[in-house]
Amino acid sequence: MSFTTPERVPPRLNRSQLFAPGVRPALFEKAAASQADVICLDLEDSVAPGDKPQARANVIQALKTVDFGTKSISVRINGLDTHYCYRDIVDIMEQGGERLDLIMIPKVGVAADVYAIDMLLTQIEAAVGRKKPVKLEVIIESVMGLNNIDAIAGSSKRLESLHFGSADYAASAGMRTTNIGGPNADYVVLTDKDSAGKRETHWSDLWHYSAFRMVAAARAHGLRPIDGPFGDYSDEAGFLAQSRRSAVMGCEGKWAIHPSQVALANQVFTPPADEVKRAEAILEAMKDGAQKGMGAVALNGRLIDLASIRQAEVIVRQMQLIRERTKG
Ligand code: COA
Ligand code: MG
Repeated sequence: MSFTTPERVPPRLNRSQLFAPGVRPALFEKAAASQADVICLDLEDSVAPGDKPQARANVIQALKTVDFGTKSISVRINGLDTHYCYRDIVDIMEQGGERLDLIMIPKVGVAADVYAIDMLLTQIEAAVGRKKPVKLEVIIESVMGLNNIDAIAGSSKRLESLHFGSADYAASAGMRTTNIGGPNADYVVLTDKDSAGKRETHWSDLWHYSAFRMVAAARAHGLRPIDGPFGDYSDEAGFLAQSRRSAVMGCEGKWAIHPSQVALANQVFTPPADEVKRAEAILEAMKDGAQKGMGAVALNGRLIDLASIRQAEVIVRQMQLIRERTKG
């Protein structure tokens, strides 16, 4: 192991992150009653320019009155290239009270974007005497953001998670696709001819590189990597496939842009029961082994060692959080 060890941010359950547009306050209570781990009240791209002040007022009202229980609450502010951004922060922080947990910054391009928001938050928190510092989540959704992702990931002590946003990224990169977060029939490889002269088309994952890159940058800085939206909310199988592949890569959760995606995300990002059982058995076996002075032991015919402990601990810790959430 390197002498430099990333310090992990405190764990926060983030299997599903349900978005609700700031202009539809009727959805806030419904989101609060859902099984989503994080609720994100949106002031950005689901709100038309003329509706920004009303959306802000709705969100402030919700922060003060809606019972969100033990869920984490986030507000997605407008980007730093708009004049809505400063007003979002000032009004939410001065008038929204203590309930807010997270601010989501969209379209982050350089580390200084996060620095600027951190500076503003720090001043306002001191001025209003806020007890609990607001934490940050950022969306990587531009070519500049992806290029600068390491610096962004290390930009602020408030930062907890990186999110990949495929729709804006596609626009920024000039990609010829309009499918939000799913595959594309033109992003394929054609196999060589087999002995019968037949060729097969194999679909590739258009989002592989960016998701993989995000997971690496996030984990290298102790942050949570979270996969962004899957636009076709009527395609359950497509959502599940995309979520499973993100989970395998190391993501801790995924956005839900419709309530029907919440249970699917929770299902995929909850470690499977047999995996939890095996992780618990590994920790037990290693405890026994340690008492006997052994660093590597066998469990059901397979080698387990100190690396297995680290993997098992992650799963067991995640399961503890899920059990705490689902009992309350
Ligand atoms: N949060 C909570 N409840 C929601 C919801 C949300 N985001 N979206 C829909 N619902 C509720 C509806 O009110 C409806 O409730 P009912 O059965 O009590 O009437 C039920 O879920 C089914 O909704 P449906 O009719 O299928 O959806 P819709 O046409 O009202 O809205 C969307 C569809 C996509 C416009 C809406 O889900 C939405 O705005 N999603 C978030 C978009 C967003 O914020 N995007 C920014 C991030 S990418
Ligand atoms: Mg976006």
